[in-house]
Amino acid sequence: MVVVTYILCKKNFCIIENLCDKATNRFHSFTFPFSLFCFRYNAFMHGVLYYSTVSGNTRLVGEALMEHFRIMGVELTLQDVASDTTWQDDVDFALFGSGTYAHGMIEKSLRKCVEETWKEKKIRIPCAAIGLGDHRYDREYNMYAADQLESWITEHGGILLCPALRINRSPVKPNNQKIIENWARNFITTLRK
Ligand SMILES: Cc1cc2nc3c(=O)[nH]c(=O)nc-3n(C[C@H](O)[C@H](O)[C@H](O)COP(=O)(O)O)c2cc1C
Repeated sequence: MVVVTYILCKKNFCIIENLCDKATNRFHSFTFPFSLFCFRYNAFMHGVLYYSTVSGNTRLVGEALMEHFRIMGVELTLQDVASDTTWQDDVDFALFGSGTYAHGMIEKSLRKCVEETWKEKKIRIPCAAIGLGDHRYDREYNMYAADQLESWITEHGGILLCPALRINRSPVKPNNQKIIENWARNFITTLRK
């Protein structure tokens, strides 16, 4: 039973292991059905949002996504690439998010990552882009960071799980909150298929 539990849970094993009685090293009786549940519903999935931000808007979107994902049982780590450009190898999915600057460009910290630091990266996991913008700055290239990031993801072998999340103007506007929530639900539903 221990072996089957391990195979079913693969990398979630450490979480299951923590539920065990460490003193006796015996599995609790609920562990096996729990592992089956985990396998069926892909519980404990964990992803990362690589982002950069100037005025904090992308961070706000990331925090809102993190909360919606948490409610749906998925963990999302927010990684500001202005201070940490580490590539995460042990995640189930990756999101890339940025505001749009200078007529359609990705914000400079994330741009440096995709153009230089991660230039040779091959992505093998489901991904999605998040692009913010404001049409008052540029109508033609409104939220164009989303398009730029989607191109980069596909060029590097990433699977686009769903169309980019695009947020125009302030992310705290009520209609944007709804857009974020619906996008999060769609992303997780598709991820679990
Ligand atoms: C100097 C400047 C240039 C901008 N250029 C664009 C642009 O080309 N297209 C667009 O849609 N938004 C543009 N914006 C709006 C930002 O992308 C938007 O405010 C976004 O929410 C910022 O996200 P951040 O705070 O996470 O960096 C620009 C904003 C500034 C300050």
